[in-house]
Amino acid sequence: MEQLMRDFFLFLSKNKALTKLAKKYGLRFGAARFVAGETIERAVNVIKDLNSKDLVVTIDYLGEFIDNEAEAKEMADNSIQAIQAIGRENLRSQLSLKMTSMGLDISDDVVLGNMRRILEAAKENNVFVTIDMEDYSRCQKTIDIFKQLKSEYDNVGTVIQAYLYRTEQDMKDLNEYSPNLRLVKGAYKESPEVAFPEKSDVDDNFKKIIKMHLLNGNYTAVATHDDAMIEYTKQLVKEHNIPNDQFEFQMLYGIRTEKQLELVKEGYKMRVYVPYGTDWYGYFMRRLAERPANVAFVLKGMFKK
Ligand code: FDA
Repeated sequence: MEQLMRDFFLFLSKNKALTKLAKKYGLRFGAARFVAGETIERAVNVIKDLNSKDLVVTIDYLGEFIDNEAEAKEMADNSIQAIQAIGRENLRSQLSLKMTSMGLDISDDVVLGNMRRILEAAKENNVFVTIDMEDYSRCQKTIDIFKQLKSEYDNVGTVIQAYLYRTEQDMKDLNEYSPNLRLVKGAYKESPEVAFPEKSDVDDNFKKIIKMHLLNGNYTAVATHDDAMIEYTKQLVKEHNIPNDQFEFQMLYGIRTEKQLELVKEGYKMRVYVPYGTDWYGYFMRRLAERPANVAFVLKGMFKK
Protein backbone atom coordinates (compact mmCIF):
# COMPACT_ATOMS: atom_id res chain seq x y z
CA MET A 1 0.00 0.00 0.00
CA GLU A 2 2.79 2.37 0.99
CA GLN A 3 4.63 1.67 -2.27
CA LEU A 4 1.41 2.27 -4.24
CA MET A 5 0.90 5.65 -2.58
CA ARG A 6 4.50 6.55 -3.17
CA ASP A 7 4.22 5.73 -6.89
CA PHE A 8 0.93 7.61 -7.13
CA PHE A 9 2.33 10.83 -5.66
CA LEU A 10 5.53 10.60 -7.70
CA PHE A 11 3.37 10.16 -10.80
CA LEU A 12 1.31 13.22 -9.84
CA SER A 13 4.47 15.24 -9.17
CA LYS A 14 5.24 15.30 -12.91
CA ASN A 15 1.80 16.45 -14.07
CA LYS A 16 2.24 19.74 -15.93
CA ALA A 17 -1.47 20.71 -15.97
CA LEU A 18 -1.70 20.33 -12.19
CA THR A 19 1.56 22.26 -11.76
CA LYS A 20 0.02 25.18 -13.69
CA LEU A 21 -3.20 25.01 -11.73
CA ALA A 22 -1.31 24.96 -8.43
CA LYS A 23 0.66 28.09 -9.40
CA LYS A 24 -2.60 29.88 -10.12
CA TYR A 25 -4.36 28.97 -6.90
CA GLY A 26 -1.57 29.55 -4.41
CA LEU A 27 -0.37 27.44 -1.49
CA ARG A 28 -3.10 24.89 -0.74
CA PHE A 29 -3.73 21.55 0.95
CA GLY A 30 -1.27 22.12 3.76
CA ALA A 31 1.64 22.86 1.41
CA ALA A 32 2.45 25.84 3.65
CA ARG A 33 3.83 23.37 6.17
CA PHE A 34 6.67 22.55 3.75
CA VAL A 35 6.96 25.80 1.77
CA ALA A 36 8.02 29.07 3.43
CA GLY A 37 5.66 31.23 1.34
CA GLU A 38 5.20 32.53 -2.15
CA THR A 39 7.41 35.63 -1.91
CA ILE A 40 11.02 36.35 -1.00
CA GLU A 41 9.79 38.61 1.83
CA ARG A 42 8.04 35.67 3.48
CA ALA A 43 11.06 33.46 3.00
CA VAL A 44 13.34 36.11 4.57
CA ASN A 45 11.12 36.20 7.66
CA VAL A 46 11.24 32.42 7.96
CA ILE A 47 15.03 32.42 7.61
CA LYS A 48 15.42 35.13 10.25
CA ASP A 49 13.38 33.03 12.63
CA LEU A 50 15.42 29.87 11.91
CA ASN A 51 18.72 31.78 12.21
CA SER A 52 17.61 33.12 15.59
CA LYS A 53 17.47 29.46 16.72
CA ASP A 54 20.99 28.84 15.36
CA LEU A 55 19.65 26.86 12.42
CA VAL A 56 21.41 27.76 9.17
CA VAL A 57 19.56 27.62 5.87
CA THR A 58 19.68 26.88 2.18
CA ILE A 59 16.97 28.75 0.32
CA ASP A 60 15.37 27.44 -2.87
CA TYR A 61 13.21 29.43 -5.29
CA LEU A 62 10.91 26.63 -6.41
CA GLY A 63 10.78 25.67 -10.06
CA GLU A 64 11.64 22.72 -12.30
CA PHE A 65 11.28 21.20 -15.77
CA ILE A 66 11.28 24.58 -17.54
CA ASP A 67 11.32 24.37 -21.33
CA ASN A 68 11.50 27.99 -22.41
CA GLU A 69 14.49 30.29 -22.32
CA ALA A 70 12.69 33.40 -21.09
CA GLU A 71 11.25 31.49 -18.12
CA ALA A 72 14.66 30.01 -17.28
CA LYS A 73 16.13 33.53 -17.28
CA GLU A 74 13.34 34.69 -14.99
CA MET A 75 14.08 31.78 -12.64
CA ALA A 76 17.74 32.79 -12.56
CA ASP A 77 16.72 36.41 -11.83
CA ASN A 78 14.66 35.18 -8.88
CA SER A 79 17.60 33.19 -7.52
CA ILE A 80 19.80 36.30 -7.83
CA GLN A 81 17.14 38.26 -5.96
CA ALA A 82 17.31 35.64 -3.20
CA ILE A 83 21.11 35.90 -3.08
CA GLN A 84 20.90 39.69 -2.81
CA ALA A 85 18.37 39.38 0.01
CA ILE A 86 20.76 37.04 1.87
CA GLY A 87 23.56 39.62 1.51
CA ARG A 88 21.41 42.63 2.34
CA GLU A 89 19.74 41.07 5.38
CA ASN A 90 22.91 39.35 6.57
CA LEU A 91 21.20 35.96 6.65
CA ARG A 92 23.05 32.76 7.42
CA SER A 93 21.84 31.09 4.25
CA GLN A 94 23.08 29.36 1.15
CA LEU A 95 21.13 28.85 -2.09
CA SER A 96 19.87 25.63 -3.72
CA LEU A 97 18.46 25.28 -7.20
CA LYS A 98 17.53 22.80 -9.91
CA MET A 99 19.22 22.70 -13.29
CA THR A 100 15.92 22.10 -15.12
CA SER A 101 14.80 25.47 -13.79
CA MET A 102 17.91 27.07 -15.33
CA GLY A 103 17.34 25.57 -18.78
CA LEU A 104 18.97 22.12 -18.62
CA ASP A 105 16.31 20.76 -20.98
CA ILE A 106 16.88 23.65 -23.42
CA SER A 107 20.66 23.80 -24.00
CA ASP A 108 24.02 23.79 -22.22
CA ASP A 109 24.56 27.41 -23.23
CA VAL A 110 21.35 28.54 -21.56
CA VAL A 111 21.96 26.67 -18.32
CA LEU A 112 25.63 27.69 -18.09
CA GLY A 113 24.81 31.32 -18.90
CA ASN A 114 22.21 31.46 -16.14
CA MET A 115 24.44 29.64 -13.66
CA ARG A 116 27.41 31.94 -14.28
CA ARG A 117 25.23 34.99 -13.55
CA ILE A 118 24.03 33.34 -10.35
CA LEU A 119 27.50 32.27 -9.22
CA GLU A 120 28.90 35.76 -9.83
CA ALA A 121 26.15 37.29 -7.66
CA ALA A 122 26.72 34.55 -5.09
CA LYS A 123 30.47 35.26 -5.01
CA GLU A 124 29.81 38.96 -4.43
CA ASN A 125 27.50 38.15 -1.54
CA ASN A 126 29.58 35.30 -0.13
CA VAL A 127 26.84 32.73 -0.75
CA PHE A 128 27.42 29.04 -1.45
CA VAL A 129 25.24 27.44 -4.15
CA THR A 130 24.15 23.79 -4.25
CA ILE A 131 22.90 22.21 -7.46
CA ASP A 132 20.07 19.84 -6.49
CA MET A 133 20.01 16.45 -8.21
CA GLU A 134 16.89 15.59 -10.20
CA ASP A 135 15.72 12.42 -11.91
CA TYR A 136 18.10 9.86 -13.38
CA SER A 137 17.69 11.06 -16.97
CA ARG A 138 19.30 14.38 -15.97
CA CYS A 139 21.99 12.98 -13.69
CA GLN A 140 24.92 12.82 -16.13
CA LYS A 141 24.13 16.25 -17.58
CA THR A 142 23.89 17.75 -14.10
CA ILE A 143 27.24 16.27 -13.09
CA ASP A 144 28.85 17.59 -16.29
CA ILE A 145 27.47 21.08 -15.64
CA PHE A 146 28.69 20.88 -12.03
CA LYS A 147 32.22 19.87 -13.11
CA GLN A 148 32.37 22.74 -15.59
CA LEU A 149 31.16 25.30 -13.04
CA LYS A 150 33.36 23.93 -10.27
CA SER A 151 36.41 24.47 -12.47
CA GLU A 152 35.41 28.17 -12.67
CA TYR A 153 33.96 28.84 -9.21
CA ASP A 154 34.69 27.69 -5.65
CA ASN A 155 31.27 28.43 -4.22
CA VAL A 156 29.35 25.58 -5.86
CA GLY A 157 28.45 22.06 -4.79
CA THR A 158 25.99 19.39 -5.84
CA VAL A 159 23.94 16.45 -4.60
CA ILE A 160 24.53 12.72 -4.85
CA GLN A 161 21.70 10.18 -4.46
CA ALA A 162 22.37 6.92 -2.60
CA TYR A 163 19.64 5.01 -4.46
CA LEU A 164 21.49 5.03 -7.81
CA TYR A 165 23.82 2.16 -8.74
CA ARG A 166 26.15 4.64 -10.48
CA THR A 167 26.67 6.72 -7.34
CA GLU A 168 29.79 5.05 -5.96
CA GLN A 169 31.60 5.53 -9.28
CA ASP A 170 30.38 9.14 -9.48
CA MET A 171 31.83 9.81 -6.04
CA LYS A 172 35.18 8.36 -7.12
CA ASP A 173 35.19 10.49 -10.29
CA LEU A 174 34.21 13.64 -8.43
CA ASN A 175 36.84 13.23 -5.72
CA GLU A 176 39.51 15.08 -7.73
CA TYR A 177 37.33 18.22 -7.43
CA SER A 178 37.31 17.93 -3.59
CA PRO A 179 33.63 18.74 -3.83
CA ASN A 180 31.30 19.92 -1.12
CA LEU A 181 28.49 17.40 -1.59
CA ARG A 182 25.04 16.98 -0.12
CA LEU A 183 24.34 13.26 0.23
CA VAL A 184 20.71 12.11 0.09
CA LYS A 185 18.77 8.88 -0.37
CA GLY A 186 17.01 10.13 -3.54
CA ALA A 187 13.47 11.40 -4.10
CA TYR A 188 12.41 10.44 -7.64
CA LYS A 189 10.70 7.38 -9.09
CA GLU A 190 13.46 5.37 -10.75
CA SER A 191 13.46 1.96 -12.40
CA PRO A 192 15.25 -1.02 -10.84
CA GLU A 193 17.54 -0.89 -13.88
CA VAL A 194 19.22 2.20 -12.44
CA ALA A 195 18.33 2.36 -8.73
CA PHE A 196 18.17 -0.01 -5.75
CA PRO A 197 14.50 -1.00 -5.33
CA GLU A 198 15.02 -2.13 -1.71
CA LYS A 199 15.16 0.49 1.05
CA SER A 200 17.73 -1.52 2.99
CA ASP A 201 20.12 -1.42 0.01
CA VAL A 202 19.63 2.33 -0.32
CA ASP A 203 20.40 2.75 3.39
CA ASP A 204 23.55 0.61 3.09
CA ASN A 205 24.74 2.60 0.12
CA PHE A 206 23.94 5.85 1.91
CA LYS A 207 26.19 4.82 4.81
CA LYS A 208 28.89 3.75 2.38
CA ILE A 209 29.02 7.10 0.57
CA ILE A 210 28.86 9.12 3.81
CA LYS A 211 31.93 7.22 4.99
CA MET A 212 33.71 7.52 1.65
CA HIS A 213 33.22 11.26 1.35
CA LEU A 214 34.15 12.06 4.93
CA LEU A 215 37.23 9.84 4.96
CA ASN A 216 38.37 11.42 1.70
CA GLY A 217 38.52 14.65 3.69
CA ASN A 218 35.69 16.38 1.84
CA TYR A 219 32.99 18.62 3.27
CA THR A 220 29.86 16.51 3.66
CA ALA A 221 26.24 17.48 4.12
CA VAL A 222 24.26 14.50 5.39
CA ALA A 223 20.71 15.36 4.33
CA THR A 224 18.24 13.02 6.00
CA HIS A 225 15.46 12.79 8.58
CA ASP A 226 16.42 9.23 9.40
CA ASP A 227 17.71 8.71 12.96
CA ALA A 228 19.66 5.62 11.92
CA MET A 229 21.68 7.62 9.36
CA ILE A 230 22.21 10.50 11.78
CA GLU A 231 23.46 8.12 14.49
CA TYR A 232 25.71 6.39 11.98
CA THR A 233 27.29 9.73 11.03
CA LYS A 234 27.77 10.76 14.66
CA GLN A 235 29.56 7.47 15.44
CA LEU A 236 31.69 7.64 12.33
CA VAL A 237 32.99 11.17 12.96
CA LYS A 238 33.73 10.24 16.56
CA GLU A 239 35.66 7.10 15.58
CA HIS A 240 37.73 8.93 12.96
CA ASN A 241 38.16 12.22 14.83
CA ILE A 242 36.50 14.15 12.04
CA PRO A 243 36.02 17.76 13.16
CA ASN A 244 32.53 19.29 13.35
CA ASP A 245 33.46 21.86 10.71
CA GLN A 246 33.91 19.15 8.03
CA PHE A 247 30.26 18.14 7.95
CA GLU A 248 26.71 19.23 8.64
CA PHE A 249 23.25 17.75 8.86
CA GLN A 250 20.47 19.00 6.63
CA MET A 251 16.69 18.59 6.80
CA LEU A 252 13.73 19.98 4.95
CA TYR A 253 11.69 22.89 6.28
CA GLY A 254 8.69 21.66 8.27
CA ILE A 255 10.04 18.15 8.85
CA ARG A 256 11.34 16.98 12.25
CA THR A 257 11.70 20.49 13.66
CA GLU A 258 12.37 19.18 17.19
CA LYS A 259 15.15 16.94 15.96
CA GLN A 260 16.73 19.88 14.13
CA LEU A 261 16.89 21.87 17.36
CA GLU A 262 18.19 18.87 19.28
CA LEU A 263 21.13 18.53 16.87
CA VAL A 264 21.95 22.24 17.23
CA LYS A 265 21.91 21.83 21.00
CA GLU A 266 24.36 18.94 20.70
CA GLY A 267 26.74 21.27 18.86
CA TYR A 268 26.23 20.10 15.27
CA LYS A 269 25.71 22.38 12.30
CA MET A 270 22.12 21.93 11.13
CA ARG A 271 20.96 23.40 7.82
CA VAL A 272 17.29 23.70 6.89
CA TYR A 273 16.25 23.59 3.22
CA VAL A 274 13.71 26.39 2.83
CA PRO A 275 11.73 26.39 -0.43
CA TYR A 276 9.54 29.32 -1.45
CA GLY A 277 7.70 30.53 -4.55
CA THR A 278 4.56 29.71 -6.48
CA ASP A 279 5.82 26.52 -8.16
CA TRP A 280 5.31 24.39 -5.04
CA TYR A 281 3.33 21.52 -6.54
CA GLY A 282 6.07 19.02 -7.62
CA TYR A 283 8.07 19.59 -4.42
CA PHE A 284 4.97 19.06 -2.30
CA MET A 285 3.98 15.84 -4.10
CA ARG A 286 7.46 14.37 -3.51
CA ARG A 287 7.14 15.14 0.22
CA LEU A 288 3.78 13.31 0.28
CA ALA A 289 5.35 10.35 -1.52
CA GLU A 290 8.05 10.11 1.16
CA ARG A 291 5.76 9.69 4.11
CA PRO A 292 2.14 8.55 4.38
CA ALA A 293 1.81 10.47 7.68
CA ASN A 294 2.19 13.64 5.62
CA VAL A 295 -0.85 12.58 3.60
CA ALA A 296 -2.96 12.26 6.75
CA PHE A 297 -1.84 15.76 7.67
CA VAL A 298 -2.92 17.07 4.25
CA LEU A 299 -6.30 15.35 4.40
CA LYS A 300 -6.95 16.93 7.78
CA GLY A 301 -6.02 20.33 6.30
CA MET A 302 -8.35 19.84 3.34
CA PHE A 303 -11.39 19.13 5.45
CA LYS A 304 -10.73 21.67 8.17
CA LYS A 305 -12.60 24.95 7.71
P1 FDA B 1 13.38 8.15 4.85
O1 FDA B 1 12.33 8.83 4.03
O2 FDA B 1 13.89 6.83 4.44
O3 FDA B 1 12.86 8.12 6.32
C1 FDA B 1 13.53 7.35 7.25
C2 FDA B 1 13.02 7.62 8.63
O4 FDA B 1 13.18 8.99 8.95
C3 FDA B 1 11.57 7.35 8.85
O5 FDA B 1 11.30 6.00 8.99
C4 FDA B 1 11.35 8.15 10.10
O6 FDA B 1 11.89 7.48 11.19
C5 FDA B 1 12.18 9.37 9.85
N1 FDA B 1 11.34 10.42 9.28
C6 FDA B 1 11.26 10.78 7.98
N2 FDA B 1 10.39 11.79 7.82
C7 FDA B 1 9.89 12.05 9.04
C8 FDA B 1 8.94 12.96 9.55
N3 FDA B 1 8.28 13.79 8.75
N4 FDA B 1 8.69 12.95 10.88
C9 FDA B 1 9.31 12.08 11.69
N5 FDA B 1 10.19 11.18 11.27
C10 FDA B 1 10.50 11.17 9.97
N6 FDA B 1 16.50 14.30 -3.09
C11 FDA B 1 16.92 14.32 -4.38
O7 FDA B 1 16.65 13.38 -5.12
N7 FDA B 1 17.64 15.39 -4.84
C12 FDA B 1 17.97 16.44 -4.04
O8 FDA B 1 18.65 17.37 -4.50
C13 FDA B 1 17.53 16.42 -2.69
N8 FDA B 1 17.81 17.44 -1.81
C14 FDA B 1 17.48 17.32 -0.47
C15 FDA B 1 17.89 18.29 0.44
C16 FDA B 1 17.65 18.10 1.80
C17 FDA B 1 18.12 19.13 2.78
C18 FDA B 1 16.98 16.92 2.26
C19 FDA B 1 16.74 16.68 3.72
C20 FDA B 1 16.55 15.99 1.35
C21 FDA B 1 16.77 16.18 -0.01
N9 FDA B 1 16.33 15.24 -0.94
C22 FDA B 1 16.77 15.31 -2.24
C23 FDA B 1 15.31 14.23 -0.55
C24 FDA B 1 15.91 12.90 -0.18
O9 FDA B 1 16.42 12.27 -1.32
C25 FDA B 1 14.86 11.98 0.45
O10 FDA B 1 13.83 11.75 -0.47
C26 FDA B 1 14.25 12.53 1.72
O11 FDA B 1 15.19 13.19 2.52
C27 FDA B 1 13.63 11.37 2.54
O12 FDA B 1 14.61 10.47 2.92
P2 FDA B 1 15.22 10.39 4.43
O13 FDA B 1 16.69 10.22 4.29
O14 FDA B 1 14.80 11.58 5.17
O15 FDA B 1 14.68 9.09 5.06
